[in-house]
Amino acid sequence: MSKRYTITAALPYTNGPIHIGHLAGVYVPADIYARYLRLTGNDVAFICGSDEHGVPITIKAKKEGVSPQDIVDKYHAIIKKSFEDFGISLDNYSRTTAKIHHETASEFFTTLYNKGEFIEEVTEQLYDEEANQFLADRFVIGTCPKCGNEESYGDQCEKCGTSHNATDLINPKSAITGNVPTLKQTKHWFLPLDKHEAFLKEWILKGHKKDWKPNVYGQVKSWIDDGLRPRAVTRDLDWGIPVPLPDADGKVLYVWFDAPIGYISATKEWAEREGKDWEPYWKDEDTKLVHFIGKDNIVFHCIIFPAMLKAEGSYILPDNVPANEFLNLEGNKLSTSKNWAVWLPEYLEDFPNQQDVLRYALTANAPETKDNDFTWKDFQARNNNELVAIFGNFINRVVVLTNKYYNGKVPEPIEFSQIDEETLAAVKAYPAVISSSIERYRFREASQELMNLARLGNKYLADEEPWKVIKEDEARTQTIMFVTLQIASALATLSEPFLPFTSDKLIGILNFENNTWNEVSSKDFLLPAGHQIGQAELLFSKIEDETIQKQLDKLEASKKANEAANKTIEPQKEEITFDDFTKLDMRVGTILEAEKMPKAKKLLILKVDTGIDVRTIVSGIAESFTPEEVVGKKVTVLVNLAPRALRGVESQGMILMTETPEGKLVFVNPDDANVNNGLHIS
Ligand code: 2FM
Ligand code: ZN
Repeated sequence: MSKRYTITAALPYTNGPIHIGHLAGVYVPADIYARYLRLTGNDVAFICGSDEHGVPITIKAKKEGVSPQDIVDKYHAIIKKSFEDFGISLDNYSRTTAKIHHETASEFFTTLYNKGEFIEEVTEQLYDEEANQFLADRFVIGTCPKCGNEESYGDQCEKCGTSHNATDLINPKSAITGNVPTLKQTKHWFLPLDKHEAFLKEWILKGHKKDWKPNVYGQVKSWIDDGLRPRAVTRDLDWGIPVPLPDADGKVLYVWFDAPIGYISATKEWAEREGKDWEPYWKDEDTKLVHFIGKDNIVFHCIIFPAMLKAEGSYILPDNVPANEFLNLEGNKLSTSKNWAVWLPEYLEDFPNQQDVLRYALTANAPETKDNDFTWKDFQARNNNELVAIFGNFINRVVVLTNKYYNGKVPEPIEFSQIDEETLAAVKAYPAVISSSIERYRFREASQELMNLARLGNKYLADEEPWKVIKEDEARTQTIMFVTLQIASALATLSEPFLPFTSDKLIGILNFENNTWNEVSSKDFLLPAGHQIGQAELLFSKIEDETIQKQLDKLEASKKANEAANKTIEPQKEEITFDDFTKLDMRVGTILEAEKMPKAKKLLILKVDTGIDVRTIVSGIAESFTPEEVVGKKVTVLVNLAPRALRGVESQGMILMTETPEGKLVFVNPDDANVNNGLHIS
C-alpha cells in the first residue's frame, strides 16, 4: 500500500567538500531507501540542504580571511554538485541561509516562545577577554564531564556523543586564543529538556519496540537515564539567525536549533516549487519521518529535535533514526584537517563515471553496526571480484549471446525445465528478500542479496552452457537465453537503488521500460519474446593494481605532510654577541665542478668559486644530489672555517644547507618551496 515518507539526510556543514565517510554513513543509505520507496510506489520527499550557520563556518572563514557567506556559497555549490554527481536523488537540496529557512526557524522559535516553552535566564557563560567574545560551541575545548575526552567541544563531545553546556567542560580553553576563559553574564533562552523527559522516555521505548538500531536506542536511553537538563538554544554570535525578540541584539539561534528545522524549510521550498502542500509531510500522522544521520548527531535527532517538535505541538515525530557508525580510512580516522580522506570531487577525477563502484563498495562495507574501515584493496576487490566478475560478466554474456544467436531479439521459450522453473521462481522471490533488508535499514545485507541474484544468473549460465547446447539443441538454447534475459531484466530494476547509473545503462541496453519493484515478482515475464534489445556495453571495468597504488601513494603523501607538520623545529641555540657573528665570513659562490668521493656514500668533492679563490670543499650532500645537479649552482659558503681533512681530501670551507622534515637536503634559498620557516641552516 502506498504511503507518504519524509526522508531527511543530515545537513552537511558547508565548511569543506564531502568525503566517503559522509557518503557511506548518511547519503548513500538514505538514497537507497528513497529510491527503493519510489520504486515501490510510495510518495516520497527526500530532503537535505547545507548547514550554513554555526561556529565551524566562522572558524573556516576567519582562517581564510573571507566572510562566512563566501565560505558557505563556495561549499554549498561544491557539495550540491557532489550529490548530483553521485546520484543522490534528493527532491530538494536547500540551504539554511535561504530566506524561507530564516523565516521558518524564526517562526518556530516564536511559537515556542509564545507558548512559554523556553526558560529565559541570565547566566554566566564562558568569555574570551582577549578575543572579546563569548565562547560558544566549537570556540571552546575542554574535558568532557562524561567520558574524560580532553578535546570535547563546548556543546558536544565527539567521542561519547553527549551534548552538554559549555560551562560543564572541565579545564575549558578558548579555541581562538588558547586562553582560559572568564565568566560573563548574558541572557539566553533555554529549552527545558528535563520537562520533556517523561515523554522522551516513553517515545524512545516505543521506538525500541519498532526495532530501532541498538546503538541508537542504547545511547539515547543512557542519556535519558543520566537525567536531562535545560539547554540554551541561543548564542552570543554574529553569524546565524537573529533571535526574533526585541531584546536580543547580537544573539542568534543555536545552530542545532535551526539546522533540523532546515528539514522543514527545505520541504516547504520543494512543495512550493512542485505546487504541493508541505504540511502533510510533517504533520500527518500517516507520514513516516525517517532521519538518516551519523552517530555524532544522535542526541540532536533523538532528544533535542523531538523535544522541539513536541513542544511546538503540530508536528509528527521521527519513526526511525537509523544512525550509522563511522567509517575509517586505511585504519585511521577520517580527518579533514589531516587531509586523511577520499574527497568526492577528487574521486570522480580519478575514477570518472565510476560512481556506482564507490556506492557499491561503501554499501557492501557500510558502518551499520560498528565502525568500519575503507581500504583501497577492498574497493578494488569489490569492483573486480563482484561488479566485474559477477554482475558485469553475467550481463555481458547474456547480451552478447542474445545478439549473436538471435540478432538481439528475445527468443521464444519452448519448454521450461525444472531448473528453469526454479530459477524463475527464485528471481521472483528477490524483491521481497531485498525489501525486507532495506526496510530494516540493513543496506549491506540488501546489496549482498542483489549480488546473489547476479550470482544466480552466472551459475545458471555456467550450468546450462548455452554456447555448447546451441550446437545440438536450438529449442533448448532459446529457453535458456529467455530465462537469462529475465534475470538480466530483474537485475536492471532491483539494482536501481544501489547502482542507479548501472541500472539506467542496463535498462538502455535491454531497451525496456523499467518495471516497478513489485512487477519483478508479479509479472509472468519481464522481457517478452520478440522484444529487441541493444548491443552490449561494458558496465564495469577492471581496476588495476597501479590505479590503487596511486591512491595509496596519495594517502602516504598526506601522512608524510602531517608528520612533517608535526615534527618539532629545533629550539634556538644559546645567544651570541654581534662580535661572534662578525667572525663568520660568508660569501656567495658558484660550484664549478663536482665529483663523488670514492668509497663514501655521502660525500661530494666540489670546486667552488668563492670570488676570492677557487677552493675545494667536501660536502655531505651526495645522497641528495648527483654531481651533475650541483654544477653551476650558486651557494652560500662559509669561507673562514678551519680546513679539515675528510677521507684524505682537505675541505676548505662549508656550503650552507638545510634539511627538510622529510630528510631532504636543500641549498639555502628561502624562496624554495621546500624551505620552511624555522629550518636549521648547517
Ligand atoms: O554534523 C553535521 O555535519 C551537522 N551539520 C548535521 C546537521 S543535521 C540537521 F539537523 F540539520
Ligand atoms: Zn565525552
